[in-house]
Amino acid sequence: MRVLITGSSGEIGTNLGLTLMQRGHEVVGIDRRKNTWTDKLPTVQFDLLQGKKGRLPVEGKFDACVHLAAYAKVFELVVHPDRALENVEVVFNTLDWCRQTKTPIIFGSSREVYGDIHRHITDEGQADFVVAESPYSASKIAGEAFVYSYFQCYDLPHLVFRFSNVYGRYDSDAERMERVIPLFIQRILKGEPIVVFGKDKTLDFTYVDDCVDGIIRGIEAVVSGRITNETINLAYGQGSTLMDLVNLISLALRKEVNATYEPARAGEVTRYVADISKARQLLGYSPQTPLTAGVPKAIAWQREFGVLKG
Ligand SMILES: NC(=O)c1ccc[n+]([C@@H]2O[C@H](COP(=O)([O-])OP(=O)(O)OC[C@H]3O[C@@H](n4cnc5c(N)ncnc54)[C@H](O)[C@@H]3O)[C@@H](O)[C@H]2O)c1
Repeated sequence: MRVLITGSSGEIGTNLGLTLMQRGHEVVGIDRRKNTWTDKLPTVQFDLLQGKKGRLPVEGKFDACVHLAAYAKVFELVVHPDRALENVEVVFNTLDWCRQTKTPIIFGSSREVYGDIHRHITDEGQADFVVAESPYSASKIAGEAFVYSYFQCYDLPHLVFRFSNVYGRYDSDAERMERVIPLFIQRILKGEPIVVFGKDKTLDFTYVDDCVDGIIRGIEAVVSGRITNETINLAYGQGSTLMDLVNLISLALRKEVNATYEPARAGEVTRYVADISKARQLLGYSPQTPLTAGVPKAIAWQREFGVLKG
């Protein structure tokens, strides 16, 4: 297959691109940043905001486009809501390129479309698009809506994946964005204090190899025409509190934790556990790595990659 990945220098894009290439597929990435993790992934450096009227600087036919480019941090978009609007423009430009080139799109959405619903299990039918918890959530809802509208009007094949707290590899560039797992690992190892926003926040943490496995199953299903036009949760399917996470990291590093606790911040979802039965049924998705196994793997990767010092 020949696959276009937008946001290919980011966490999920880098893992997805390298895995596809290892499996013998051709990958072209688009990102406005250089890939700082690897030079193996062919990357066109381009700001997708410039891709008006679907003019993207790539040539030839692609079997699928995986659209991952976005400002991906919820709280950052509470502080800078204009970036949420940029997210929507970037979806639109990519989607219009897909329409013109007749390329199926796989859209990287988020559990944020469900809002803070305080339910244990969330199936794909439960999104209430009238309630948007944050500008980021609004940008994903709008992105999904455009994708669905392009199916209605132009018959553009698509899959929408709703991800949840993906972690494990190529996710620790803290100067660009702080993500809770690499941040806590690095601070706890150095004996530095951590601030836990919402200690009882219950989230569904997804080890990146499980996420990538699900996306590739999705790409194959769309390209073969076996499954299209579905919206699918892609997560581990179990909830863990931030306290569980802190304890697992502390145990794995054999370090005491110096934590202070603050309420969850504006816009943050405090409870989400995905119902992944649709991914299981449609794609044969079967996530392998619970948080108890994923935290030690994330630490091992950080040590191996030289990100973790101490
Ligand atoms: N990682 C998660 O836990 C998670 C959870 C839910 C949803 N998502 C979604 O999945 C996608 C990928 O997430 P990620 O964690 O890899 O994010 P990331 O921030 O690591 O990667 C996103 C990439 O998109 C690029 N990008 C942003 N705007 C761009 C533009 N205008 N032009 C070109 N490139 C641009 C960035 O430079 C970055 O490299 C995002 O859309 C995110 O919202 C991620």
